[in-house]
Parts: sequence; C-alpha cells; structure tokens
Amino acid sequence: MEDPLLKKTLHINSLDEWRELCLKCRRCPLHKGARNVVFGEGDPHARIMFIGEGPGGEEDRLGRPFVGAAGKLLDRIFSAAGWRREELYIANIVKCRPPGNRNPLQEEIETCYPLLVKQIELIDPPIIVTLGAVAAKVLLDSRDFYITRERGKWRQLGSRMLMPTFHPAALLRDPSKKRPVWEDIKQVMALYKEYA
Ligand code: URA
Ligand code: URA
Repeated sequence: MEDPLLKKTLHINSLDEWRELCLKCRRCPLHKGARNVVFGEGDPHARIMFIGEGPGGEEDRLGRPFVGAAGKLLDRIFSAAGWRREELYIANIVKCRPPGNRNPLQEEIETCYPLLVKQIELIDPPIIVTLGAVAAKVLLDSRDFYITRERGKWRQLGSRMLMPTFHPAALLRDPSKKRPVWEDIKQVMALYKEYA
C-alpha cells in the first residue's frame, strides 16, 4: 500500500513544506469533521516543544493549537516561566479535532503519529514537554503510563529529554494540580537555560 504523504517524507527538510502536506492530510476519518488541520505553531528551531492531545473546538475553528481555555492557562504558565509563546513550539498528538472532543482512538493516533514524528525531527528540540497522559503514553510508547505517579520525572527519548506533566485542562478541573505542574515547569526552565 502506497501512502502518498509518507512517501514524500524522506525528501522533505523544511517545516513549511511539511506543514503544506499535512494540511492536506486525509489519511484518517478525523478530517471529515474538522474545520482545520491544526499543524502546530511556534519557532521552527524551538528548543522546547509542548505536545498536547488534540485540537478542541477553538483550535479547530482557528487552526491553531492551545487557543481555548486550556491554552489561556498554558499561556499563563509560559509567562510565569519567562517564556514567550513564539520562542516555543506547540503541537498535538493528533492534528484534527476528534468529534465532541473525545480522546483520539488508537487507530487515529497511529495514523497521525508519523506526521508528528517528522515534525519533531525537523524542529529537533532537545526538550519535549508532554501535556497529559495521552501525549506521554504515545511518545513514551507506554500503555501503562500513570501520569499522577510518573509526571515530573525526566525521561530520555532518543537524544531528547522529555518531561511529562499534567494537561492544562486537568488543572482547570483540579487546581491542586497547579503546584505539581509548576514544579515540573521549574525543572524544564532549569534545563532550558542550558540551551539559551
Ligand atoms: N487541548 C489539547 O490537547 N490541545 C490543544 O491544542 C487544545 C486543547
Ligand atoms: N505559576 C504557578 O504557580 N502555577 C502554574 O501553574 C503556573 C505558574
């Protein structure tokens, strides 16, 4: 089976080119219910990449990641850390909104994953922060990752360092998660300084 999108990946070495192709992706049914493919945004050479789960309603409407309520909270975390949103890169495990904001299905995740892998390779960030259990499970290839127990500990992902933390939407539901997230972010701040 020939996959026209993936067939092209080897030849692509610019994020803009990759974006153009991903915006046309029809490899899974999610695109049918989506208004926009939310590719991700930020500095193409960012030293930190944040990875969430998938676009919600606002993200789908605007074609940009983390611009709804969870995104507003994420922006506050960025400013508390002294980061500008533009110096980071923000993306998701799936690039199209799952209907009704349900979790992406395993099949959708597997179909979309190569798009993210190529995106990570092109940006080549030394630091990745996963937001929520879904992103951590996918990137760490671990079905039994328990975010409550395993967040806040650096993990190695090839040559990159990965920090799993809670999803900002979880913080909105449960403010007691704010402190642990801030502890995680402080660890990320410390490592990020080494790349300044
Ligand atoms: N939640 C996510 O996981 N990603 C977004 O882009 C927005 C909300
Ligand atoms: N500062 C905090 O104390 N908590 C956050 O979640 C973000 C910034």
